[in-house]
Amino acid sequence: MTGANKPADGDRDLPANSLRGGRFAGGPADIMRRINASIDFDKRLYAEDIAGSKAHCAMLVAQSILSPEDGAAITAGLDQIRSEIENGSFSFSAEREDIHMNIEARLAELIGPAAGRLHTARSRNDQVATDLRLWVRGAIERLDGAMRELQRALIDRAEAEAATVMPGYTHLQIAQPVTFGHHLMAYVEMIGRDRSRLSDCRRRLNQSPLGAVALAGTSFPIDRHATAAALGFDGPAANSLDAVSDRDFAIEFLAAAALAGMHLSRFAEEIVLWCSDGFGLIALSDAFTTGSSIMPQKRNPDAAELVRAKTGRLNGSLIALLTVMKGLPLAYGKDMQEDKIPVFEAADALELCLAATTGMVRDMRPDRERLRAAADRGFSTATDLADWLVRIAGLPFRRAHHATGMLVKRAEARGRTLAELPLAELQAVEPAISAAVYDVLNPDRSVTSRLSFGGTAPESVRVAIAEARRRFLE
Ligand code: ARG
Repeated sequence: MTGANKPADGDRDLPANSLRGGRFAGGPADIMRRINASIDFDKRLYAEDIAGSKAHCAMLVAQSILSPEDGAAITAGLDQIRSEIENGSFSFSAEREDIHMNIEARLAELIGPAAGRLHTARSRNDQVATDLRLWVRGAIERLDGAMRELQRALIDRAEAEAATVMPGYTHLQIAQPVTFGHHLMAYVEMIGRDRSRLSDCRRRLNQSPLGAVALAGTSFPIDRHATAAALGFDGPAANSLDAVSDRDFAIEFLAAAALAGMHLSRFAEEIVLWCSDGFGLIALSDAFTTGSSIMPQKRNPDAAELVRAKTGRLNGSLIALLTVMKGLPLAYGKDMQEDKIPVFEAADALELCLAATTGMVRDMRPDRERLRAAADRGFSTATDLADWLVRIAGLPFRRAHHATGMLVKRAEARGRTLAELPLAELQAVEPAISAAVYDVLNPDRSVTSRLSFGGTAPESVRVAIAEARRRFLE
C-alpha cells in the first residue's frame, strides 16, 4: 500500500463539493457562480465522465496508487450515480459548477472520503478534454448512421425513378434533360463525402488526453496507455500541454457538420422549389407540410425550410468555437468551457435535419407527367441537336452551336419546341439536317443516349445505384 492509501488526518473534514479548498476565505459572488457554472449544458457529458473516471480508477488500482477497496467503492459509487442520472433521481446543482464536480460531490455523499482519492493524478482539464472527445466520437457514430439512412432513402427513391425524365438546370434555367433518379444520386455522393469527413475527424480525435493532468503530466506512476485502451482510444495524446488545450477535433467536427448542413440546405431548397406552384414537380404529404393560419389552401414545406434555415446554427457553431479558440495561449483557459454549447447544438441540429430530410425523401411523390412535360420546355435538347450535327453531319462544333441557336430562336418565335419544327424549316437553317434528327430532339432519347460513365442514362444510373449500395450501404 502506498502513502496515498493511508487514511490521512482531516480527510473527513473536507467539504465534498468545494473547489475553493483552503485558499479561499469568502464565497463567490452570485454573478461569479452564474457565469462559471456549466452544469446546465455539460450534464450531457455524464456517461463519458463516468466512463473516464472508471478507467482512471481501474488504472490507479492497477498501478498501486489506489487501494483495491477504495477502487471498488469508487466504481460501485460511479455506477450508482449513473443509474441515478438515468432514472432522473440525481439532483444537479449549479453550486457544484460542472458535471465533474457534481459527480465527485455525489460520490463523496455515497462512499465518504475515499471519493476524494479518485482525482489523484487527474485534473478537470484532462478530464473534460477526454469527456468531450468521447462525446464527439459517439455523436459521429450516430450521425454516420443517420447519414447512411438518408443515403438509403435516396438510393431507394432513385431506383424507383431511374428512368423518370425531368429537366436538369444550370443557373436555374432548363439546361438538358436528366432523370430524377440521377438527380437524387448526386446527393448520395455529397452525403458520402460528409460521412468520410466525419470518419477522418473520428480518426484524428481518437487519442486520449487522460493523464495529461492539469498541463504538465504527473509524478505518479500512471499508465496512460491503459486508460487510453480502456476508453477505446488508439493511444494517449503525445504532449500533455496539447492534450488539455486542443479542441481541433471539435472544430473539425463542426466544420464537417456545417458542410453537411450546406448540402442538406441545397436539397431543402430544391424541395421547396419543386413543391412550389411554378414548378409543381413533386408533392409532400400532410406528414411533411403545414397549413397557414389564414390561407386555407396552403400546404407549406416547412420541414424543408427549417432544414435550410438550420445551416445558420451549424455555420454559427463553427465560427463560435473558432473564435473562442483563436487567441488562447497554452494550455487550458476557462474559455474552453464554451466549446460544448456549439458542439451539442450543431450535433442536435444536424441529427434533426438528417432525420427530417430522410422523412421527406421517403414521403415525396414525384409527379412523373409534370416532370416529363417540364423536360419538353426550355429547348432542353438543343445540345443534343448540336451534338447530332457534329456526329452525323460532320459539322465543326462551333458551327453546329450557331445553327442550333438560330433554330431555337425560330422555334421560340413560333411558340414551338425544337421537335415541333418541320424538317424544311430545320433545313432552311442547316441543309445538312435530315429527318433522322428528330430522334435526338426527344428528351427521352436524349436521356437514354447519355451513357458515359456517371451520366444520366437510366442504364448508367442503375449501374451507379448498384455501386452506391456497395460503397455506402454494405
Ligand atoms: N467545466 C470545465 C470545462 O468545461 C472543466 C475544466 C475546468 N478546469 C479548470 N481549470 N477550471 O472546461
